[in-house]
Amino acid sequence: MNILLIGSGGREHALAWKIAQSPLVKRLICAPGNPGMAAVGECLTIDDPIAFARQEAIDLVVVGPEQPLAEGLADRLMDAGIPCFGPCKDAAQLETSKAFTKEICAEGGIPTARYGHFTDADEASAFLETFSAPYVVKADGLAAGKGVVIAETLEDARTAIPDLLAMSGSIIIEEFLDGREISLFAITDGENVVHCGTAQDYKRAHDGDAGPNTGGMGCVAPVVFWNDALEEETYRTIIEPTIRTLKQRGLTYRGVLYAGLMLTQDGVKLLEYNCRFGDPECQLLMRRCTSDLVPVLLAAAKGTLSGHTLQWTDDHGLLITYATQGYPEAYEKGSPINRVHDAGAEPGVDIFHAGTAMKGDQLVAQGGRVLSITALGKTAAIAQERAYKAAEAIDWDQGFYRTDIGKNNVR
Ligand code: AMP
Ligand code: GLY
Repeated sequence: MNILLIGSGGREHALAWKIAQSPLVKRLICAPGNPGMAAVGECLTIDDPIAFARQEAIDLVVVGPEQPLAEGLADRLMDAGIPCFGPCKDAAQLETSKAFTKEICAEGGIPTARYGHFTDADEASAFLETFSAPYVVKADGLAAGKGVVIAETLEDARTAIPDLLAMSGSIIIEEFLDGREISLFAITDGENVVHCGTAQDYKRAHDGDAGPNTGGMGCVAPVVFWNDALEEETYRTIIEPTIRTLKQRGLTYRGVLYAGLMLTQDGVKLLEYNCRFGDPECQLLMRRCTSDLVPVLLAAAKGTLSGHTLQWTDDHGLLITYATQGYPEAYEKGSPINRVHDAGAEPGVDIFHAGTAMKGDQLVAQGGRVLSITALGKTAAIAQERAYKAAEAIDWDQGFYRTDIGKNNVR
């Protein structure tokens, strides 16, 4: 098979690494890819993925990030008869519109926070008073992680309304859900579903969950507070009703559903959906998956997922994001990074590139989140020790990472 993978981050490096291990794969092209992905596939800049896929006899396109899906890449591939892992634009609204997701939840009876949807600041402000602190205000559309404000006072929540309205034209105000957060992944062809694991993401920039929200500074899997009963509850009350409700609307979701969940006193509730794998969660899922992923990706894209499953190692996994100082605010590009290869040779360790580039022969930092250091081990403690040992072995003056990933993932 010839596979075209769209994207250039840590998530895509991990997908490329996993896809390249499949005996079914003849060629893997990563567009545009990154220096890490160059070790497992051909990295190319492609202007027109449809023309390229036709010309190079691509059997499957796997779309990593949400942006191309929001722009309708899957629709165009489907029209051209090219199988695509990643939903069509209308189904991707699960990520691109929080109001859409809330409507699906209402229609499907899916547990989520009580909410209101507003285009008017005064009406939104009045609705806020039906809640108590903390207050949750969200921009409706894609907001690159900056669209959610959780305010301790009514005044702060009100102040946030105009900015969030300006971002996307409408906002969601919802009940604050207290509990423990987890990311759950389900691969679907719009009808059938394959469990694709869970992981816990560390969203804040600094130790002790301090500092601003980020794309993810680390993650662990398995998650200590999760179990098979909660997984079954989530598929029955959230994932399956979502797929059914989309189908009733004439939408066939082909790809991965990423559910951001809150385990509350009243059971599991949906915080949000994304229409792609989580980054960095994907990197750990790929490390822990022991099955060939390619048949599952292809079957999801073709609508033939029935009967497929994925198997997982019992080993624990831990991931540390190595980021450029300053991230998620302003940061410098171009600082040199050394000894990545040696660090990646530590037992149980694999390092994925997220925001790197080559400057001549020198590997340099090119983004905010630069490397994903993953480790597996028989216990959570071993995985943690291995990942931190690898992080310490990397020589990069301008980088930083959290030192407490996995600290709370113990019984
Ligand atoms: P979202 O983009 O909707 O996932 O929001 C970003 C983060 O804000 C989530 O990962 C949660 O940590 C937090 N959050 C969002 N909505 C709520 C809520 N209703 N209650 C508590 N925390 C929330
Ligand atoms: N890890 C959070 C995200 O991928 O959105």
